[in-house]
Amino acid sequence: MRSKGALFLLLCGWLLLAEARAESKLLEIESPKNMSIYDDAFASLVIKTPPGKIKRLEIETGEGKLYIYKSSPKTGYYCKSVKLKLGDNNITITAYTDDNKTETKSLKLFYRSEVYEIAEEAPYKYKKYLFHNDKNEKLCSKCHDMSPDFKKVSKKTIKAKGALTTDVEVLENPQDSHCYSCHEPLTSRKNGHAPSVNFMCTVCHTGKAGEYNLLDEGKSRYLQPDPIAPRCFKCHERVEETMKHNRSDHGLTKLGRCNKCHNPHSSANEFFLRKPIWQLCTTCHAEQASGKHVINAFVFSRNKEGHPTRGRPDPSRPGRELVCSSCHNPHGSKGPFLLRTTGSTPFKVCKRCHKK
Ligand code: HEC
Ligand code: HEC
Ligand code: HEC
Ligand code: HEC
Ligand code: HEC
Ligand code: HEC
Ligand code: HEC
Ligand code: HEC
Repeated sequence: MRSKGALFLLLCGWLLLAEARAESKLLEIESPKNMSIYDDAFASLVIKTPPGKIKRLEIETGEGKLYIYKSSPKTGYYCKSVKLKLGDNNITITAYTDDNKTETKSLKLFYRSEVYEIAEEAPYKYKKYLFHNDKNEKLCSKCHDMSPDFKKVSKKTIKAKGALTTDVEVLENPQDSHCYSCHEPLTSRKNGHAPSVNFMCTVCHTGKAGEYNLLDEGKSRYLQPDPIAPRCFKCHERVEETMKHNRSDHGLTKLGRCNKCHNPHSSANEFFLRKPIWQLCTTCHAEQASGKHVINAFVFSRNKEGHPTRGRPDPSRPGRELVCSSCHNPHGSKGPFLLRTTGSTPFKVCKRCHKK
């Protein structure tokens, strides 16, 4: 009995304390959740403060950047899209009031990518949270239109050519999309993928799960299937063709997880890759970096350094440099070892660049 009484008192004390703490709250982080995992480089920070009370707000991000707000928005809401670095990110937010009170809160976020050693897997305790459910959207819908778009706005057509095998209809003006106000940064890097840059987000974000994220089914209205390949093939049939008639195939491609090498939104690298090609391939194939693997018995007698794998023009592809994918097709091949040949021996590939 006595211990129950003590427990009760303790509980009351704790509740009072919690109340006092709630009152002194200068800042509340509405988004994102602490310990979230990200698969792309941008997090939407939303900080709620008592309207008119904050003199100065500072956000220090994972990239080591400092954002300073010198006034309080009338609504008390600060919204900021911040860029993450690969792996761990520690973000701190500090609010200052006129009467010299301060409060600091911090957030840990993890930007994951399978092709970077430091970011391959998030440590235990980090979780992937999905945002787009009714409860979360309600927090924003006062000020942001959260409905999917594609209504009466004008569209334009991108004609099939190159990697694109079907015509695609996209928004004439990306700002017409309701997704733009929060997600524009995803499309802002140097090379933008057409359906993303033009905000046809729902061609991939169908709300459906796939084999690798089945447990997330129903948790977000904009979930994308994983594997994503069937979505990609809607516009890039040729890659599907390459994969169908294979003699050799490639793990990630075969599993349909195109997004592990390609960033589906945009990237600083060509083909929206998560790394430049040579660096991408040697992440998993360090041994082949020297080029000594290229029919060494033959090449060695002529060049002890092995066959070059970069740093020269590619004779088979005018305007491009020699890289691993000059000889190998990362998506599959009718020849052996993903070689860009239909012949059955590796030697057949040499003819692409060497006359005899
Ligand atoms: C009280 C109004 C209000 C609420 C509530 C609100 N926002 Fe905002 N948000 C704004 C305004 C206004 C802007 C444009 C700010 C600007 O351009 O400086 C904005 C901009 C943004 C941006 C872009 C910031 C950038 O750096 O480009 C993001 C992301 C964002 N909001 C996310 C959210 C999310 C997520 C929620 C709900 C959890 C939310 N906002 C709730 C008013 C609000
Ligand atoms: C008010 C801001 C806001 C608007 C508008 C918005 N989103 Fe989001 N969205 C978020 C936030 C916040 C997250 C969580 C990740 C982050 O921090 O950016 C998110 C996450 C996502 C995700 C990852 C899956 C999930 O549910 O977490 C997808 C996909 C997505 N949004 C698509 C869209 C699409 C498509 C639209 C337009 C129809 C849209 N969003 C409009 C704020 C917004
Ligand atoms: C070509 C397919 C494709 C298109 C188009 C696309 N996405 Fe994605 N998106 C994906 C895939 C696949 C993922 C899974 C994570 C990854 O690979 O980056 C993803 C992840 C996301 C995430 C979560 C990122 C994170 O850090 O975890 C957001 C937010 C998002 N997409 C928003 C959008 C918005 C907004 C658009 C439209 C401008 C869009 N996407 C267009 C395929 C696409
Ligand atoms: C709605 C149609 C559509 C979907 C779905 C789509 N793409 Fe694309 N993709 C395009 C268009 C349009 C281009 C630009 C083609 C051009 O300019 O030649 C493009 C270009 C590309 C390129 C660059 C090609 C080059 O030669 O520079 C790559 C790589 C690519 N997409 C990969 C993907 C991947 C991976 C997926 C699935 C995650 C995907 N795409 C899904 C329409 C789509
Ligand atoms: C192992 C990494 C990797 C995976 C996985 C991958 N790609 Fe690629 N992809 C590349 C590289 C590297 C290039 C550039 C090749 C070159 O040098 O021409 C490329 C080029 C492309 C292109 C443009 C040139 C072309 O071949 O048409 C498209 C489209 C494309 N990929 C789509 C896909 C699709 C769809 C998938 C999933 C089925 C996928 N990729 C999976 C690495 C990858
Ligand atoms: C994420 C890791 C990863 C990346 C990135 C990657 N590979 Fe691979 N690759 C593998 C694995 C695992 C195998 C083993 C067999 C399999 O699953 O296909 C493989 C197999 C191969 C093979 C041998 C296929 C055979 O038939 O024996 C070649 C050639 C190859 N990769 C070339 C490349 C090239 C070129 C790139 C860059 C465009 C690349 N890989 C990028 C993981 C990767
Ligand atoms: C000049 C053409 C050429 C270039 C460039 C090239 N390879 Fe190869 N690669 C080959 C040939 C030919 C084979 C088959 C080797 C054999 O049969 O001896 C091969 C085989 C492979 C294999 C299968 C395992 C092995 O060692 O035999 C992998 C993995 C591989 N290459 C990865 C790479 C990577 C990664 C790069 C870029 C750093 C690269 N290759 C650059 C021609 C090339
Ligand atoms: C994608 C184009 C390409 C393919 C395919 C290719 N090579 Fe090369 N090869 C080169 C380039 C570029 C050089 C460097 C030439 C230079 O520096 O002048 C080179 C150099 C060489 C050298 C060194 C001697 C010399 O001429 O400088 C040998 C030997 C060689 N290749 C053999 C092969 C063999 C064997 C194959 C087939 C397994 C092959 N190559 C496939 C592009 C290619």
